[in-house]
Amino acid sequence: MSTATAPDRVGPGSRRRLDVDEAMATRRSVRAYLPRPVPREDVEEILALAARTASNSNTQPWHVHVVTGAAKRDLTEALWEALAADDRTTPEYPYQPDPDDWSEPLRSRRRRFGEELYGSTLGVEASDTAGRLAHHRRNYAFFGAPVGLVLTVDRQALGGGLVDAGAFLQAIVLLARARGLDTCPQASFLDFHPVVRRHLRIPAEQMMVCGVALGYADEEHALDDLRTEREPVAGFTTFHV
Ligand SMILES: Cc1cc2nc3c(=O)[nH]c(=O)nc-3n(C[C@H](O)[C@H](O)[C@H](O)COP(=O)(O)O)c2cc1C
Repeated sequence: MSTATAPDRVGPGSRRRLDVDEAMATRRSVRAYLPRPVPREDVEEILALAARTASNSNTQPWHVHVVTGAAKRDLTEALWEALAADDRTTPEYPYQPDPDDWSEPLRSRRRRFGEELYGSTLGVEASDTAGRLAHHRRNYAFFGAPVGLVLTVDRQALGGGLVDAGAFLQAIVLLARARGLDTCPQASFLDFHPVVRRHLRIPAEQMMVCGVALGYADEEHALDDLRTEREPVAGFTTFHV
């Protein structure tokens, strides 16, 4: 029996699951994947459980577009073309401030993450625009993951719908991890949302929230060495007694 299918392991063919604490502690954004497929039943099981997420008055405003095979290849090609032409669009909702408009402590954390991803992990200098673009481009292939998800939310649900969709996203990510799978949420698709909308025939009432890469991590790949840090609880919590 291979280690991947040993009964004490999570992963392909195994029924073992990580508990919530284990899934949360080992979750990270993975940016290099093995070509190993993820069975459709596994994706359906993850989505069925994720649908238990709380939402405003149980409106369940989310929708998921699952992209694999030729559909994924075609979408990637179209996005690469749009990227090469720098055919960017303003995201459908204000995902983040202009890079110069961040203030502390978020500004420094954001810079540190960029340095860790591009510098320590990829060895790409800040001045190496071509090197950075070459990595950024990988976003649009879902970093080589066999499954890409595009998460949308019904526009009429407004900001509450984005909260619900965020909770739904986290459920997907943790349920995947519990099964030995890895993920990377991806806002990068928002810059080219008309291309995604056209290819996946996303109805007008659905607003794109983000993409998500889903698959088995390529542990040998340098990109998957990145481990991000967190503030201690005291840094972001106020106990009122
Ligand atoms: C909504 C959302 C969008 C994100 N978009 C991207 C993205 O487009 N590309 C990317 O490489 N990582 C993206 N990330 C991953 C973050 O960079 C990552 O979560 C953060 O640096 C913390 O690292 P960790 O997830 O490994 O703990 C996104 C994360 C979230 C929650």
